[in-house]
Amino acid sequence: MNQSEQKRKTRVTCAPSLASYLKEELEVLGFEILSMDKTGVETLATTRECMLLNLRLRTAFHVLQRFADINCRNADELYSEAKRLPWDRVIDPEGFLSVTSNVRNDTITNSMFPNMRLKDAICDKLVEKIGKRPDAGSSTEGMVVNLHWVDNKARMYLNMTGRKLSDRGYRKMPFMAPMRETIAAAVLMEMKYDGTSPLVVPMCGSGTIAIEAALIAKQRAPGLLRSNYACTNWLGADKDVWNQERADAKKLMAKNDPAPIIASDIEQEAIEASKKNAVTAGVDHLIDFHVCDFAQTPMPEEVGDVVLHGEYGLRLGEDEDLVATYKRIGDYLKTDCAGWDGYVFTSGKPLIGAIRLKVSRRTPFINAEIDCRLLRYELYKGSKAIEA
Ligand SMILES: C[S@@+](CC[C@H](N)C(=O)[O-])C[C@H]1O[C@@H](n2cnc3c(N)ncnc32)[C@H](O)[C@@H]1O
Repeated sequence: MNQSEQKRKTRVTCAPSLASYLKEELEVLGFEILSMDKTGVETLATTRECMLLNLRLRTAFHVLQRFADINCRNADELYSEAKRLPWDRVIDPEGFLSVTSNVRNDTITNSMFPNMRLKDAICDKLVEKIGKRPDAGSSTEGMVVNLHWVDNKARMYLNMTGRKLSDRGYRKMPFMAPMRETIAAAVLMEMKYDGTSPLVVPMCGSGTIAIEAALIAKQRAPGLLRSNYACTNWLGADKDVWNQERADAKKLMAKNDPAPIIASDIEQEAIEASKKNAVTAGVDHLIDFHVCDFAQTPMPEEVGDVVLHGEYGLRLGEDEDLVATYKRIGDYLKTDCAGWDGYVFTSGKPLIGAIRLKVSRRTPFINAEIDCRLLRYELYKGSKAIEA
């Protein structure tokens, strides 16, 4: 059987709080779910399918193909056991190798040491077998081996992604406190956004939510936005298969344009950054940008979703200074967004309380290591928005 057709255990990783969205994405793509934990989902995938996952997943970090499990109590055993493995079948001696790790073992005090020992084991194995070894270092632009080592059990993965998938490549211009692309995609999944009704994103910052929305609405595979993936760097990687997967992903793009997407921010600089990012993502023609206070954001006639990610304490401003803004957000939702579904992504009880509207759903997210909530408000026409 061709290497790229053999199903292997594959771990797809994600940021904490995104695993259920990642699981949903994998299920929609027809993948069997073997297990799920806080930071990832296990499935079965061929190398070709790993390529497809790189291109299509919106909420994942890395696609990791399981290579081997070994028992080792310390770094010397890691070296000797890892050196027995058939690295010559997967490592391209002309390529570039890096090793990253996640280690919980009492004998390890320097987190870089296991990486170095595993890299030595791989390179020494290649020199013994074929007399050549790859260059090695910390860049993740070539072949990346991931080591997951807890107590005396070590698992090695061939990283099929390289740089995280959340690094889509369009955000050349981050404005202050941007939301990670994968979180924005998960927020939109939680909102069940599909581009058929309007989306308004006041306080859009560098435009991440609006840009991810446009990508979803156009069914544009987010992985097409960059070109370097580790799956093409392993020995024998089939570039034709990769090109075919890219061509297939391109065909998914919806012909019709979505309902209006409107993004605004009070800072001219934010909107300039957003526009540039949207151009890089190829969706600038789908987003209508405005510089204005959130309450002045033009609303389309047809109702849809409005989502705000304002500043919150521990980042940028402190909660107390922001209470007045959140009071105004509550007023805006109640008066200007009647009939819409309103969402606020924030952190901190004082701010949530300041909105003074009845929350119909709270979904926890972790953004930049801060516990956040996506709050949903059903904004009835008339006076039905209820004071909390
Ligand atoms: C946390 S950032 C949004 C980040 C954004 N989700 C992203 O991914 O880049 C909050 C944004 O709210 C904007 N902002 C603050 N007060 C505002 C106001 N009164 N009206 C409109 N925008 C405002 C800031 O300029 C900032 O860009």
